[in-house]
Amino acid sequence: MYKLLLKSISDYLNQTPVVEEALPWVCNEIQRELPNYDWVGYYFHADNKKELHLKAFAGKTTDHTVIPFGKGICGQVALSNKNFVVDDVAAQDNYIACNIDVKSEIVVPLFIHGENVGQIDIDSNTAAAFSIADEAFLEHVNSLVASYLLRSKSNF
Ligand code: SME
Repeated sequence: MYKLLLKSISDYLNQTPVVEEALPWVCNEIQRELPNYDWVGYYFHADNKKELHLKAFAGKTTDHTVIPFGKGICGQVALSNKNFVVDDVAAQDNYIACNIDVKSEIVVPLFIHGENVGQIDIDSNTAAAFSIADEAFLEHVNSLVASYLLRSKSNF
């Protein structure tokens, strides 16, 4: 499943010139294909601000379109530069609830030239939905998106 999905994302990014269309497509495709992926979004670091800004998502609308560095799971990843897998969001002190149905979450940073510039964030309505295979898959997705953003000279 992951392999086929990576191929379809790679093929799509190789033929799509418009960045504003590409990121929502990637979010939608992942959310549609993977059953436990109930919300999928891309946050990027805002220029000269210690904030994450939501640039694309699939799933329910969220109020949390801007997240300060350090706040919530996403804000912690902006500072740690490391994947964060949360099996039970209720057990986290530093967590921002987007939706009461969410039980688990994974956030994987996106690097361009070794710099953490954003992240993919997935929420699941199932507890402990994410494994090491999901981490590897999302790292791969982010490397495809990073190459795409570099090619498109996007300033996301
Ligand atoms: N739960 C995240 C906030 C983003 S929403 O999941 C869309 C967090 O704690 O950072």
